[in-house]
Amino acid sequence: MIDLRSDTVTVPTEEMLEATRHARLGDDYYREDPTVNQLQKMAAERMGKDDALLVPSGTQANLTSLMANCNRGELVILEGESHIYWYEVGGISSLAGLLPWPIRTSTGVYASEDLKEAIRPKNISFPDPALICVENTHNRHGGTIITPNQLKEISEISKHNNLKLYMDGARIFNASTALNIDPREFTKHVDNMMFCLSKGLCCPVGSLIVGEQKFVEKARKIRKLLGGQMRQAGIIAASGIIALEKMVDRLKDDHENAKILAEKISKIPGIKLDLATVQTNMVTFQLDPRVDDCAFLEQLKERGILALSMSRNKIRFVTHHGIERTQVETTGKAIGEILSKTIP
Ligand SMILES: Cc1ncc(COP(=O)(O)O)c(C=O)c1O
Repeated sequence: MIDLRSDTVTVPTEEMLEATRHARLGDDYYREDPTVNQLQKMAAERMGKDDALLVPSGTQANLTSLMANCNRGELVILEGESHIYWYEVGGISSLAGLLPWPIRTSTGVYASEDLKEAIRPKNISFPDPALICVENTHNRHGGTIITPNQLKEISEISKHNNLKLYMDGARIFNASTALNIDPREFTKHVDNMMFCLSKGLCCPVGSLIVGEQKFVEKARKIRKLLGGQMRQAGIIAASGIIALEKMVDRLKDDHENAKILAEKISKIPGIKLDLATVQTNMVTFQLDPRVDDCAFLEQLKERGILALSMSRNKIRFVTHHGIERTQVETTGKAIGEILSKTIP
């Protein structure tokens, strides 16, 4: 199968499995797992912040960070297509007790005017705003990047209004690799953030919450509350260390493959694809309304190719470790053949 549904389908490399086998372990409850400690130190350094905390998933990293940044009943501004809003079972309200305040954007970047308008003045009737969230790269917008300059502008608005700025940086290394800059160019504009090891970086499990010491200490207690405190978590962290050392630079291959696929299929009748949105490892496009998206995906599957429907006729392909150039070419050809038969 050519599995292009997500970069979460990647499996650990041989080197990761080997590192796991030989990882030095301890009880992380007592902060005695040397491999976890090493990974957390590396993560904090890579992001230019004080400290970091390993948690099992990106969803838990986001929930923990929301709870560590806000008090119950407060308001959180987030993007209308963000992962937190769409795909995290509403934990922001049911578990964190926060009011999500979504803003619609076209590529994941807030227009300053929209952001300013969403920050309402203190008023006895309004919930107090506490936090602005950004997602970088932006999943549902097709892996688009919020540039450091755009983040700076958002950060100035958040500071001016005494709000914190949090970044869901599940794929921040895709953003930094695509722009060929250090991740700290992004993180210096946010108060705290998380990134995932278990997406394009090939780890089986794990995300890191990164921020200042006090914030990470608070997150540590919330992680315990949410059942995310692990014991010999060096088993996970060992792969994470390899990921940070060896798997970041190769993301550019995924980006190149995504561009090749996008350029190939953007010319096919029945596909509406804005090449400007193909900035990292995702190719998201709109299918002609005459095509049934389920049937389209089914026909691809019959040819050994898997992709995902994001909403009606919005289709996503994601390139990742293990996907070769020839497979991308096969995919482009298959899409062309299927659509030439479907669209008269
Ligand atoms: C932008 C973003 N944030 C958070 C998550 C959640 O990560 P996890 O699946 O590890 O919970 C994802 C997952 O795909 C994501 O794309």
